[in-house]
Amino acid sequence: MNYFALIPAAGVGARMAAGCPKQYLPLLGKPMLRHTVEAFTRSPLIAHTYVVVSAGDGYAGDVLPADLPGVTVLRCGGATRMESIRNGLRLLGGTIGPDDRVLVHDAARPGLTPALTAKLIDAAGADPAGGLLALPVVDTVKSAAAGKVATMPRTGLWLAQTPQMFPYALLLRALEEAPDPDAITDDASAVELLGLSPRLVEGHPRNLKVTLPADIRIAEMYLTMDPET
Ligand code: C5P
Repeated sequence: MNYFALIPAAGVGARMAAGCPKQYLPLLGKPMLRHTVEAFTRSPLIAHTYVVVSAGDGYAGDVLPADLPGVTVLRCGGATRMESIRNGLRLLGGTIGPDDRVLVHDAARPGLTPALTAKLIDAAGADPAGGLLALPVVDTVKSAAAGKVATMPRTGLWLAQTPQMFPYALLLRALEEAPDPDAITDDASAVELLGLSPRLVEGHPRNLKVTLPADIRIAEMYLTMDPET
């Protein structure tokens, strides 16, 4: 069984409101996407890394040159994250076997380390339902639906991160069969809709998703820290 990384990187990063898509913003002088890709190319467990960008992307060629070992750019991005991933999976049908594992990881999580990837693979690599990195909720959780504030029990609640790892055939089927793909915000929820229960593996705050401008400094702080911590 081989492990492949698939990085959807076809978003525009509207909440970042920067001059370029957020995955190309510099962190410590290097584009975010390059940090993210290198988290996988530094891992001996990953057979190959595929990056999905939009057809008209004008940055990927410089950030990920064609001679970069172990990395292939796929210009098949879609209108949503799910569509980008599904398009990438379809293209890879002849390359990745049905039982090979695909680790889907957001371009906007540059703090991933080979140690975290190894932890996920160790814990869930053999699980037919797959698994994902996630963090147990530590704050008190409030709901404010319909103007009524209430406190929710946080026992058993986790915040999903990526990578989210599944057998290739299962993930493609889950995304093809999802009744409302636009309502799905992560890969695991599509697999859960098939009645399966992916394994939750504790991640790390350094694997944050860079979403708002203030997140850039936090991501840079983690990137200067020892990746094994
Ligand atoms: O915008 P957000 O941070 O939620 O996006 C998560 C990931 O999905 C990012 O890596 C982004 O580039 C990717 N994405 C994509 N295609 C889209 C929208 C988002 O590959 N149409």
